[in-house]
Amino acid sequence: MYIKSLSLSNYRNYQSLTLDLCQGTNIFYGNNGQGKTNLLEALFLCAIGKSFRYAKSGDLVFNGADRFKVSIQIAEDITEQIDISYTRKEEKIIRVNGLCLRKLGHLMGNLMAVIFSPEDLQLVNDGPAVRRRMMDIAISQIKASHYFNLTQYNKTLSQKNALLRKCNLQGNKSSLDMLDVYNEQLAESGAKIIVRRNQFIQLLSQFSKEKHKEIAPEENLEIYYQTDALPEGFFSEKVEDIKESFYQLLSSKKEKEIERMQSILGIHRDDIELKLNNSDLKRFGSQGQKRTAVLSMKLAELSILEKSTGRKPILLLDDVFSELDGLRQESLLKSIANFQTFITCTDVSELPDELLKNAQCFFVNSGCVVL
Ligand SMILES: Nc1ncnc2c1ncn2[C@@H]1O[C@H](COP(=O)(O)OP(=O)(O)O)[C@@H](O)[C@H]1O
Ligand SMILES: [Mg+2]
Repeated sequence: MYIKSLSLSNYRNYQSLTLDLCQGTNIFYGNNGQGKTNLLEALFLCAIGKSFRYAKSGDLVFNGADRFKVSIQIAEDITEQIDISYTRKEEKIIRVNGLCLRKLGHLMGNLMAVIFSPEDLQLVNDGPAVRRRMMDIAISQIKASHYFNLTQYNKTLSQKNALLRKCNLQGNKSSLDMLDVYNEQLAESGAKIIVRRNQFIQLLSQFSKEKHKEIAPEENLEIYYQTDALPEGFFSEKVEDIKESFYQLLSSKKEKEIERMQSILGIHRDDIELKLNNSDLKRFGSQGQKRTAVLSMKLAELSILEKSTGRKPILLLDDVFSELDGLRQESLLKSIANFQTFITCTDVSELPDELLKNAQCFFVNSGCVVL
């Protein structure tokens, strides 16, 4: 599958735009602040229904307008058209092949996308939320049910926290019973999330290790899934066993949670541990080593999405080429050869000739795009 065309109406700094795209490499070049990343953002929006830049829907509307619309047409796939529209007064409306989706989660998997931008260094340097988001977006694109399990878990978690914030829970029978009900529900959705995250991280670890070795043969990248929802040393891949164990752990912490008036463990605290040559990458890795690790993870994500679904994701590369040295560029080129790719840069001369050979180049200048 590949995206044949993109249309924008009142999206960011684009009032009206229609672009025919090629199956291979599409390059958007131009000065800073012209709207290159906005184009990648619009494409990614069609994959997961949200901005990869954490922007709110209202921020995506062209200044002064009251609605935006983004549409893509897809070739060689059962999903032929995705439309996302948003009006300030209403909810976002998402259509796939003309049919309106009831829930955002139903969009997942129609178009799969992997984005790689300089901010992805946050995957190493920032807190666990960034890493959870990365794995959950990837998994949800493979299995939309993961997205629904997360929604369910988060809903129950906020209900449980609201209950814990109430005073005098101790000795209040009905509240304690309710706490058990919430814990049971958290264990139910949480166990499914754990199984998927664990499987994903095993694949990510294996694929990233190989990619990293290609670029830096003397380095060894290892990735581990970390959760405090299970007792230390616990191992099972069965949902039922995990659910039981998670529930037991939640039950054993009930008094502490009541005392602290908040939930103290669960999959909302999960993390991914990144180790390079047996040391913590965040603390001991150089800037270059971190970059290589992130590149390896992104390329691994691309392979995992393809291998798990038998379909090809699109790849969005935002200003990353110029930051990579020869070996990393080579590895990237090799890995992206068979994917539809969208690349932004300020100057095409900073891109390798091999990439430019078959690419379609678009010049982006304050919300206008010319071939
Ligand atoms: N809602 C909006 N309405 C109009 N212009 C916007 C909106 N959001 C961002 N912009 C403009 O988009 C430009 C940034 O676009 P971006 O794609 O990030 O640039 P770059 O080409 O550097 O990647 C800025 O000029 C900014 O003012
Ligand atoms: Mg940009």
